[in-house]
Amino acid sequence: RFEAVDHKPLGGPFKIEAAYRGDTSEDKVNLGIGAYRDDAGQPWLLPSVAEAKKRMDLPSCTHEYSPLHGLDAFIEPARRLVFGAELDPEIAPFVASMQTVSGTGANSIIAKFLARWIQPQQIWLPAQTWDNHPHIWRQNAPAIQVRDYPYYDQKTCSLDFAGLMATLERDAKEGDAILLHACAHNPTGIDPTENQWKDIALLCEKKRMFVVFDSAYQGFASGNLDKDAWSIRHFATHPDLEFAVCQSFSKNLGLYGERVGALHIVTSRNATPSVALAIRSQLVEIHRGEVSIAPAFGARVATTVLTSEEIFSQWLEDLVLMSGRIKAMRQALYDELVALGTPGSWKHVVEQTGMFSYTGLSTDQVTVMQEKFHIYMLPTGRISICGLRDANVKYVARAIDNVVRE
Ligand code: LMR
Repeated sequence: RFEAVDHKPLGGPFKIEAAYRGDTSEDKVNLGIGAYRDDAGQPWLLPSVAEAKKRMDLPSCTHEYSPLHGLDAFIEPARRLVFGAELDPEIAPFVASMQTVSGTGANSIIAKFLARWIQPQQIWLPAQTWDNHPHIWRQNAPAIQVRDYPYYDQKTCSLDFAGLMATLERDAKEGDAILLHACAHNPTGIDPTENQWKDIALLCEKKRMFVVFDSAYQGFASGNLDKDAWSIRHFATHPDLEFAVCQSFSKNLGLYGERVGALHIVTSRNATPSVALAIRSQLVEIHRGEVSIAPAFGARVATTVLTSEEIFSQWLEDLVLMSGRIKAMRQALYDELVALGTPGSWKHVVEQTGMFSYTGLSTDQVTVMQEKFHIYMLPTGRISICGLRDANVKYVARAIDNVVRE
């Protein structure tokens, strides 16, 4: 009876990861999946996370069910992190929050929730986005049409802000939903400026669009938690703008496989707080049919980091270290390319932010990088800067130089 089931090949970063693992070359370099690596190319256990686990007395930890909406001890500091100490007390009564299976879980639940309760005609995604975004929306909200708004200008390797605004102004319908990356846009590494964010917020307000922020890199992008939440906090200054934040702790706490995240839905600040409570009850209803409850362990680790003053200070240092190493590797790659006289401008490598760089290499060039040099990156030309280190950055630069000149 299953003869008709097609084999679905792996896609996206996990396909590249599998290919990298299968390569036996000693020269191989993994610039595919977005996971932090230290300068020895190894996964990094954050000292703050290691300390949190020590304090948790793991041998005697029990494994009871959490409440269906998740652990309050986790959700509240997670929400405070997004909105900041100043804004959080004011906004909290209007926010429906729940713990989710990392950012993917939050994205899926908001898609299902909007499809069920708001029924926007279209969800607008940036033309370049995380490969899972369109998949999540098609799978969870098939009645909502997935549309693209211009994001990346190939010619200038920068944000196509005029195209973005003109397209939404012209084609977005009142009540549509829109996905925005809060910071460190994946895959391009290009974010709007503060003034551009202000214009986007005004447009969303005018069109009564429902904004979904994907926030996967708070603190990881710049090393500063407040700076990386600026866009979200700015939108919160518009009391009528209703929006959601899909929060992931995969990157900023290095808790990739533990699936730690939260969904926060901010209702109009003119609504009564009972609206947020009703929304949360419906989120719980959806979540119950999906996974019942988000896993507890990683959320407990995150709670310990977020709520212990001393560990939190260590975490701030960890964030500066990770983002600092990434910036240093951007600079090193840029310097090498300039020293080699590689044709083209490479300034964008240092100007982009976060984990990824959109190099500008074509799919054909990416194939040569992989086949000839054993360097693994996404077909779009995206590299994860975290895979670069002192020991391989010259090799990668020489390979780029070679493919560009061919
Ligand atoms: C990536 O874009 O490489 C990461 O966010 C990992 C993933 O889940 O795709």
